[in-house]
Amino acid sequence: PITRYYNLTLSRAELKPDGFSRIVWTSNNQYPGPMIRANKGDRMVIYVNNDLDDGTTIHWHGIFQHGTTYYDGVAGQTQCIIPDNSAFIYNFTTGEQTGTYWWHSHFLAQYVDGLRGALIIHDPNDPFLKDYDEEFVMTLSDWYHKTSIELVAMMDTPGYSAGNPVPDSGLITGIGRFDCKNAPAGSKCEPNNPLAVYPVKQGKRYRLRVINTSAEVTFTFSIDEHPLKIIECEGENLKPITLNKINIAIGQRYSVIINAEKDIKNYWIRAQIVQECIRWNPDVKLNLNVTGILRYEGAPEEDPTTIDWNEDTVECRDVDHNLLKLYEPRAVPDPVTDSFTFRIGFHRNDRNVMKAYINNSTFVPDIYDPTVHNIMAGGNMDAKDLEADQNAFIYDTENGVVEIALINENGATHPFHLHGHNFFIMGHGNGTVPDRSQFNMVDPAVRDTVSIFEDSWTVIRFRIDNPGVWAFHCHIEWHVEMGMVGQLIERPSVLKTMEIPPDVTALCPKTTKQKNAAR
Ligand code: C2O
Ligand code: CU
Repeated sequence: PITRYYNLTLSRAELKPDGFSRIVWTSNNQYPGPMIRANKGDRMVIYVNNDLDDGTTIHWHGIFQHGTTYYDGVAGQTQCIIPDNSAFIYNFTTGEQTGTYWWHSHFLAQYVDGLRGALIIHDPNDPFLKDYDEEFVMTLSDWYHKTSIELVAMMDTPGYSAGNPVPDSGLITGIGRFDCKNAPAGSKCEPNNPLAVYPVKQGKRYRLRVINTSAEVTFTFSIDEHPLKIIECEGENLKPITLNKINIAIGQRYSVIINAEKDIKNYWIRAQIVQECIRWNPDVKLNLNVTGILRYEGAPEEDPTTIDWNEDTVECRDVDHNLLKLYEPRAVPDPVTDSFTFRIGFHRNDRNVMKAYINNSTFVPDIYDPTVHNIMAGGNMDAKDLEADQNAFIYDTENGVVEIALINENGATHPFHLHGHNFFIMGHGNGTVPDRSQFNMVDPAVRDTVSIFEDSWTVIRFRIDNPGVWAFHCHIEWHVEMGMVGQLIERPSVLKTMEIPPDVTALCPKTTKQKNAAR
């Protein structure tokens, strides 16, 4: 293992990912941001230079941050923001982790404006190395023509009732094609934007790492005439299973292998927006069919000719958990020492604005006094206050097992992501949560982001082995802004004995200074 250095310089620039020009929050002047790669065990030292004219933080989605919870990048939970015109260095090891991850801003809804990219950890002993010749990384995303600042302001208007903002288009690895006929007068839009092209050679096999980095949508991913052999889900190798299409919710990742054994021509790569997941919005006028091109060497440089799209209703669900079997099975964490219930849903606040709740409480991050500092450095809040005001769930059992029952009291599906861990999915269903004897103790799926289906429950488990403050939230970014966020406070007695690096604590006075200057 070595130390890898990366630089992310963040600034705003006018770009047109789908042909429509807008100001994009870029990293090293590009969107998506640069891909970050490592080998198993490497240390990552990532310089973030902030020229955004706004604060920021960067989170490494799926990385456990063993011993470095303060580098997890969550504004208000693990750190104060990195003020404009300053730099911050994240420094963490990837430990035993391998596979497909991503990084994104974890302050406001900034990642929706462009602050996101892939993060890949290669395993020199990957059991599938002999099964493919080359690999590609594909980030899928929805795309908005307004900034998240405008969209959040709209949602925060008293009486607003139109639901989550619906994206204008979708992108594959940062490229899409908006129909400029729908662009408002006075905007800059170039029609027939080129699509993302993935070049393949007949006879070769390719590993595709597919990441849904969206704000709002679940995609059904497929490639015409090319079945997908799934070998990895969110850092866990799987017993291979072949499907023609897979649903990928926000924050989820898969590696699939395709065999380029078909005729030399162009094939659609399809990321179809699952309409069932956004049916709440009365005026969905967007094109649900996001495309890229799989181009065999020797094929003409043109779009594929097939245009048929699957019009069947696709359920707003994940790939069936029962199909996701660990390549090397592991014992299910047991017995449970700490159990919690998260009831999730929405209510209107006293300003008549729709807010999300977890157990009756709406999360509001305190970027001037983050939780990690409270716990580790003896800050201003005691545990009771954290539980009441900050959706905190506290457990301190050495080598214990946490079980969380998520109960969705709402008619929409919510993809929940846990920081600091992945988890075993013990079961899910409608009605009341059954007795533990009904759970899958043999071979449950393991992942770090799971969709909680409408009006149903899901139970997850993980071992208490990573002291820290870990966000646990719906990854629909609009729901994060509405407060559908919890934080798990793991081993506070151990956290108190760990030291926060001075550069992390130094951010808070700077953040406060910027706040005071802005007044
Ligand atoms: Cu992808 Cu809380 O993060
Ligand atoms: Cu949600």
